[in-house]
Amino acid sequence: MERISIDALRDRVDGALTDIAQAPTLEALAALKASLVGKQGEIIGLRRQLGQFDPEDRKVFGQVLNDHMAAIGQALEARQAFLEIERDNVVLAAERLDLTLPARKPARGSLHPLTETLEQILDVLCGLGYEIVRGVEVESEWFNFDALNAPEDHPSRGLTDTIYVHEFDTAQTREDGTTPMLMRPQTSPMQIRTMLDREPPLAVAIPGRVYRQDTPDATHVPVFHQIEGLTIGTDISMADLFGTLTAFARTQVGDKTRFRFRPHYFPFTEPSVELDAWIEDPSHPDGGKWVEMLGAGMVHPNVLRNGGIDPEQWQGFAFGIGIERTAMVRYGVPDLRLFADNDLRLLHSFA
Ligand code: PHE
Repeated sequence: MERISIDALRDRVDGALTDIAQAPTLEALAALKASLVGKQGEIIGLRRQLGQFDPEDRKVFGQVLNDHMAAIGQALEARQAFLEIERDNVVLAAERLDLTLPARKPARGSLHPLTETLEQILDVLCGLGYEIVRGVEVESEWFNFDALNAPEDHPSRGLTDTIYVHEFDTAQTREDGTTPMLMRPQTSPMQIRTMLDREPPLAVAIPGRVYRQDTPDATHVPVFHQIEGLTIGTDISMADLFGTLTAFARTQVGDKTRFRFRPHYFPFTEPSVELDAWIEDPSHPDGGKWVEMLGAGMVHPNVLRNGGIDPEQWQGFAFGIGIERTAMVRYGVPDLRLFADNDLRLLHSFA
């Protein structure tokens, strides 16, 4: 075997040190390590050659070889440590949890437009001195019709308008002394309950749900909301009624929306009016339509009597505001079924 010179050994070791310093990966370094100092490695092979040297050369050569092996060992370790740190950094970077990322925001809720409308109207009425009272939803026919001066044959008494809770058989129920019960189709029976419950003067606002046998369309749903208002005092006139309702309309639909009072008939008020507001609706041939927002009037003397109040001494006015209708006008929504669809995209647009 050809003996290697000391210079050639130095060159070979320098080359090995460069290779180690440039080993690109841990795998490449491991392969390099095996080829240099492994069992079949080059340096180990050189050490085996030492036997062929004469003693003087062997000592020098052996010393040089040992130094170089130590240098190669250190270089391998250093490169190994460096490559391991590099690998760890890559893994750490990949697994890094970026705490500076904005957190997912919880969706911010908002009041339903009907709740918002209801509360704002009650706010206005409170400002005018009204006290808020709650009522019952399952009502007796007497409170809802008889006491409210509804004639025996009034069409709204029929099954087609009113939802009765008990079988409706007038002859039978009247004989056994019970009164048919119904889902109140209006908040007006609370007028009578309030009068029987309190002494005038009084001003109460009664919000609540009402029920009718209606097929849903753009302006009707079978379950909706009203606010009943009742004012009883002395020297109360239509002017007070108009003042109150105008204050309501201005705050709800603004100065720009057109609204109008229109004569109407209710059994429990005399005279009676309805308040309409104009709502833009491009699908309509006139570019919009009048929407009835409320019914109102001066409390009929018979109703005062049924509530135990002397009509010679007291007068009053009453009104029943439709919340869905008011919200339609307020938000310019031409179809009130949208309020019950619970489509979040629509509801958010009111927030
Ligand atoms: N109760 C009537 C309705 O539902 C509204 C109304 C209330 C009218 C009070 C006059 C007075 O249509």
